[in-house]
Amino acid sequence: MAQREILFSREVIDGRVRELAGQISRDYAGRELLVVGVLNGAFVFMADLIRALDVPCRVDFVRMASYGSGSVSSGEVRIGKDLEKPIAGCDVLIVEDIVDTGLTLSRLVALLRERGPASVRACAFLDKPERRRVPFTADYVGFSIPDRFVVGYGLDYNEKYRFLPDVCVVGTDA
Ligand code: IMP
Ligand code: MG
Repeated sequence: MAQREILFSREVIDGRVRELAGQISRDYAGRELLVVGVLNGAFVFMADLIRALDVPCRVDFVRMASYGSGSVSSGEVRIGKDLEKPIAGCDVLIVEDIVDTGLTLSRLVALLRERGPASVRACAFLDKPERRRVPFTADYVGFSIPDRFVVGYGLDYNEKYRFLPDVCVVGTDA
C-alpha cells in the first residue's frame, strides 16, 4: 500500500467518536447498555467508544459469516460466533466498523430482535450508503463515505492494516 491516502486522521476520528459517545450517552441516560461488537473489524472503534460513554455498559461479541465464496456474496449471512450471554430485557447497541451492502447488520438486528431484548440499535463507524443491497439505516454513524475501499482503525484488507490509527484509502498495489 505505497500510496496511502489518509481519509480520516486519528485526531478527526477521536473528535467524532467523542461526539457519538456523547449522543449515545444522552439517549441512554439512566440506563445500562449491552454493547455488542461485530468481530473483527469493530474492536478498535468499540474500545474507544465505550471509554467515552457516560453510561455504564457491558460488552459481548459476535462474528458474522457470509455464505458463498470469493468476492460475490450470496447475500446469506449467519452468526459464526454467537454471543456468550442471553440478551432478554437488555438495551443492545450493536457496534460495527462499516455498513456496506447492509446485509450483515440487517440480518444481525433481525436475529437479535428475536431474543427479546428491550431495544436494539446499531452504531457504525463508517457508512457507504451507495453500496446498499438491502435497506438499512444505522442509528448512529461516525462518517458517511463514498464507494471507496478503506482500511485502518480496525478495518482490514485481507486481514492487513487493521492496526493503522488513521482511516486510509487502499492504493492500487495493496
Ligand atoms: P455488509 O454486510 O456488506 O454491510 O458488510 C459489512 C462488512 O464488509 C464490514 O464489516 C467489513 O468487514 C466489510 N467491508 C465493507 N467495506 C469495507 C471497506 O471499505 N474496508 C474494509 N472492510 C469493508
Ligand atoms: Mg471485515
